[in-house]
Amino acid sequence: MPVEIYFGRGMLNEAGKLIANTGSKALIVTGRESTKKSGALQSLTDSMIESGIEEILLYDKIFPNPSYKVVDAGAEIAHKQNVDLIVGIGGGSSLDAAKAIALVSASRGSSWDYVNYPEGSVRKPEKSKPLVCIPTTAGTGSEVNRYAVINNPEKREKMVISHSLCYPKIAVIDPLLTLSMSRELTAITGFDALIHALEALTNRVTNKIAQEFAVKAIKLIGRWLPIAVFDPQNLEAREKMSYASMLAGIAIDQMGVALIHAMEHPISGHFPEIPHGKGLSALAVAVTEFNVRGNPEGYALFSRLMGYENTPSGAIKALEDFIEFLKLPKNLKSLGLKEDSLEILAKDVVRLSDRSLRVNPVEVTEKDILQIYKRAYFS
Ligand SMILES: [Fe+2]
Repeated sequence: MPVEIYFGRGMLNEAGKLIANTGSKALIVTGRESTKKSGALQSLTDSMIESGIEEILLYDKIFPNPSYKVVDAGAEIAHKQNVDLIVGIGGGSSLDAAKAIALVSASRGSSWDYVNYPEGSVRKPEKSKPLVCIPTTAGTGSEVNRYAVINNPEKREKMVISHSLCYPKIAVIDPLLTLSMSRELTAITGFDALIHALEALTNRVTNKIAQEFAVKAIKLIGRWLPIAVFDPQNLEAREKMSYASMLAGIAIDQMGVALIHAMEHPISGHFPEIPHGKGLSALAVAVTEFNVRGNPEGYALFSRLMGYENTPSGAIKALEDFIEFLKLPKNLKSLGLKEDSLEILAKDVVRLSDRSLRVNPVEVTEKDILQIYKRAYFS
């Protein structure tokens, strides 16, 4: 993994120094509000100016589940203005958009040309601009992996660009930046990290190092996410969550995600207003009930790490209780989905997910997926 990682409280103030050798004309990619309100954007630009970065442009148009069009527009600016450095700061959407902008501004074309359909992408990327990622949430782990997830509103698809050219050159992880997250955002994003670690731990890929990272992440999230949610100013909890999110982000980089993510992506594709973490929480129990028989030891380990008994079914109970405790959505109905949309979602999982289904602990058919969606709808 080629990412240089700088982790620690107050690290944002060092960002300028850390990235000054990477480029002299930068495009900062971020969302419309939160990094301005929290002051993180100002601290970043101050630090970059102090460190001698000559010119800084701002592209602050990123929204949750970003469309490929907003990415393409950012890539056009980066190309036309001839910037030599992309800096993403914000939640997973801003970081993913920055990753795609870095790639598309150098390789050209549209970002949608590079998403990984099962039959391959339309274009193969050739190069990317140097990229720095600075997360302000603790959950996606995007700052340390090769994935950029984007939406296509016309096709109603959410797809991943998965390529080594998407790796950030530098990740600056400052847990202090996550203090400004609301309780709900803390819970949603933290739960995403938990599912990354769960899916990496239990899927059909063997990678000892990444498994150790997943184990450590689960332990940390089980213990510290409730504290971060209910005592938001607790710095230790924020630090542990930023660290766990990073570990889980590396784990999925090496091992991939599985059926929970494969079934969430069509939900965000069709209903982009639904946050990723909420889709995951509505699906997690139903998918785990289906999956436990495929890897009983893995799920028993997850259960143990969450403080439950050493049985595969303990994993189901652990997830149910965690979701309840964090007040996350328990079913798809509560997200406002119509029951008659489940069939098209099931078809999209089979049509669009390839690797996630191949590595899932249990082999799965379209009929199984529809059953699981139905179970997740009413539970
Ligand atoms: Fe995720």
